[in-house]
Amino acid sequence: MSHVTQAPLGRPPVALAPTQTVRLNINGQAHTLQIAPWTTLLDALREYLDLTGTKKGCDHGQCGACTVLVDGKRINSCLSLAVMHEDSHIQTIEGLGTEDKLSPLQQAFIDHDAFQCGYCTPGQICSAQGLLNEGKAKTEAQVRELMSGNVCRCGAYSNILSAVMEVLNNEGLLIEDNAWSAGAANQDMPPVEPPKK
Ligand code: FES
Ligand code: FES
Repeated sequence: MSHVTQAPLGRPPVALAPTQTVRLNINGQAHTLQIAPWTTLLDALREYLDLTGTKKGCDHGQCGACTVLVDGKRINSCLSLAVMHEDSHIQTIEGLGTEDKLSPLQQAFIDHDAFQCGYCTPGQICSAQGLLNEGKAKTEAQVRELMSGNVCRCGAYSNILSAVMEVLNNEGLLIEDNAWSAGAANQDMPPVEPPKK
């Protein structure tokens, strides 16, 4: 017996698979979806809720473009099923700030020109917000290491690093002898291996 599933936005319903009701709290708003249980959080955001700020890069957990925050912790939303997050608070790039009041990281990315095409940027910013929440990165080397899951094909790493370091510095999260100053983070990030096909 086939069941009618709610289709992604803009597409007609199709008789495909059993679905279930999934309730998600995203950026402080409650949403109820009728979706196949294997729908990833990334697809739920993009295809069912039109929250397209979260990007799909590799869809295999290798690029970080799909990074969102779940209860303050960063995850790759392409590797996680929406149904697993019913009791969580999910935050996407759309929920970090507003056009009138950008988050400190969003503002720092603009101030440091920390993007070129911008495709990786929402994931970079959400990942950096997770980094802040974790409070583990105390030095530039640790920031480089702990942000290494977010690939930038445009190679904007040095400016991304500057933006993140500035916010960490302003938050007082760096250890004293690593206090960052503008222009200090001007070396290229170590090369990142491209995702394997
Ligand atoms: S799209 Fe999720 S890690 Fe690349
Ligand atoms: S700014 Fe283009 S991929 Fe990072």
